[in-house]
Amino acid sequence: MYLFKNVSGLRDFLEPFRTKSRKIGFVPTMGALHEGHLSLIRQSLESTQCTVCSIFVNPTQFNQAEDLEKYPRNPAKDLQMLYEVGCHAVFMPPVGEVYPRGIDTSVAIDFGQLAEGLEGRFRPGHFQGVAQVVNRLLSIVEPQQLFMGQKDYQQYLIVRHMVRALELPVEVVMSPTVREANGLAMSSRNARLSAAQRNQAAIIYKSLQDACQWVKQGLSPEQVREKALQQLGIPGFRPDYFEVVDGLTMQPLDNFDGLGMAVACTAVWAGEVRLIDNTILQP
Ligand code: PAJ
Repeated sequence: MYLFKNVSGLRDFLEPFRTKSRKIGFVPTMGALHEGHLSLIRQSLESTQCTVCSIFVNPTQFNQAEDLEKYPRNPAKDLQMLYEVGCHAVFMPPVGEVYPRGIDTSVAIDFGQLAEGLEGRFRPGHFQGVAQVVNRLLSIVEPQQLFMGQKDYQQYLIVRHMVRALELPVEVVMSPTVREANGLAMSSRNARLSAAQRNQAAIIYKSLQDACQWVKQGLSPEQVREKALQQLGIPGFRPDYFEVVDGLTMQPLDNFDGLGMAVACTAVWAGEVRLIDNTILQP
């Protein structure tokens, strides 16, 4: 496994793959890796000849300085995990390498309604920051396939939209959410939960599973939302939202009539840690 901290080193390493038309797969991350990240790496290893993982805690997508500061970092352990899983190259750039001084790397795309609700509402500017860094990383790595987790479903849609809007020659592949034994979606932020909070946080997945049942029983999106919010209101936990949305537009639904795909999305504070999760509903 090769480790690169600057763009030119990584590009030199990737050049032979391009000339020989070997597929490059890319998994962008912010580190503090867990099985969820590794599942994306494995998927890339299976379908491409060279897998690149980036570890970069992107400052432009944090709307709270404290969240950025407290974001868990464990580079030595990350590298060990990536080595063991068989990743080919790791890109771990300093901020100045991703955002060179004096160069405008912002992405001029209006994501409209895709970015307005859910995470977009509670984390203003977050998705512009995500789009900016993913676009910049894609221009450095130039992969044929980009692997993103369903765990961050709205983020996946934003990136897919950007790839289409900018006509980037990359396929965006969505990979299923990897969970702890109790159902809690794996997340780097889980490292900040106490043992008790981790156990209690199983309620988040439970609410999503129950939502699937309630939809099958014929409840409306609004009824599902209300019941789930009630369920999530346990001591020490505070939901930001639980929404039932159209899986293509992220717009809240009034009913399930004639709909292709609905998604239940939630964000919940467990003490001072904000957790998100979602599930696809089959009305
Ligand atoms: P990060 O939270 O580190 O996640 C990196 C990738 O791993 C994302 O595509 C995310 O959806 C996926 N992922 C996280 N937890 C997962 C789980 N439990 N199961 C499956 N996949 C999971 O998302 C980001 O970083 C950043 O916003 C980034 C895209 C790297 C841009 O900075």
